Amino acid sequence: MKAYQKGILQAIPAQAVYLSFELSPQADRSAAEAALRALQSLADGERVVAGIGAQLAALFGAAIPGLYDFTEIPGATMHLPATPAALWLWCRDSERGALVHVQRHVQQMLAPAFVLRQAICAFRYQDGRDLSGYEDGTENPQGEEALQVALTADGGSFAAVQQWEHRFDKLDAISQDERDQMIGRRASDNEELEDAPTSAHVKRTAQEDFEPEAFMLRRSMPWADGQQAGLVFVAFAASFAAFEAQLRRMSGAEDGITDALFRFTLPLTTSYFWCPPVRDDKVDWSALGIV
Ligand code: HEM
Repeated sequence: MKAYQKGILQAIPAQAVYLSFELSPQADRSAAEAALRALQSLADGERVVAGIGAQLAALFGAAIPGLYDFTEIPGATMHLPATPAALWLWCRDSERGALVHVQRHVQQMLAPAFVLRQAICAFRYQDGRDLSGYEDGTENPQGEEALQVALTADGGSFAAVQQWEHRFDKLDAISQDERDQMIGRRASDNEELEDAPTSAHVKRTAQEDFEPEAFMLRRSMPWADGQQAGLVFVAFAASFAAFEAQLRRMSGAEDGITDALFRFTLPLTTSYFWCPPVRDDKVDWSALGIV
């Protein structure tokens, strides 16, 4: 397997900022190429994980099999906003201050071809919990299996990214027992509840219950901005198929049963990206014809 972006497989950092960029209306291929070349000095795949959207691939006339934009799921009972972006960066560090400077430098390197659409500040909470208090990532594949699930043979990876906003007033109004039933695990000891209802999140998403099985590597992080907070859900896989199968079942499109998570949290965005392999410790843009 070719070298992959190591940040994908590593533990969740203490701090992160997710940056999404769009192409500026004037950007042509040579301006975008200059920006992406400059970005290589920071985007090593470890401190900065990078992904490209279908629109950017199209600007370069590059065929990246399996990359396309997310579109709403027919029959979904919940609104799943489709928010395509040209470029996505997951900047990771132990310190929030360091990321302020990383973001500044990234924006300087990418201007004027790319315009910042959104910056989300994220962080690790306790021992890797969602802000609802539940451990997140327990059923992730480990070791060699994680590599197999998250990456394609050429070292690339497909990232599905969704910003979810939690409504803590709604969560606060639900008893702890009922919350455990909603998730399908006990917050106190992370035990799975066999008798949880069909709407429980881990019943909706049980990876081996899909045909074909729908495994993916989740690397989500809590986010907060003033009064708003939630989870940046990020799943890496060899295609978008597992994510789509999970989301179809969560959204009620399959059997009319909506995931109980929607009682206290809603997705604000959904975007798809392809994270290229790395070469000489730099994200490799050769699929775009940049060598
Ligand atoms: C705010 C949004 C979300 C929250 C708070 C959340 C939280 C959790 C928690 C607490 C677990 C149990 C522990 C674990 O195995 O990680 C879990 C499992 C899981 N979640 Fe989510 N999740 C969210 C969104 C999603 C989305 C959008 C998907 C896929 C489309 C998803 C897919 C999964 C999968 C595949 C599992 C493991 C199921 C299994 O095989 O047992 N989650 N999630």
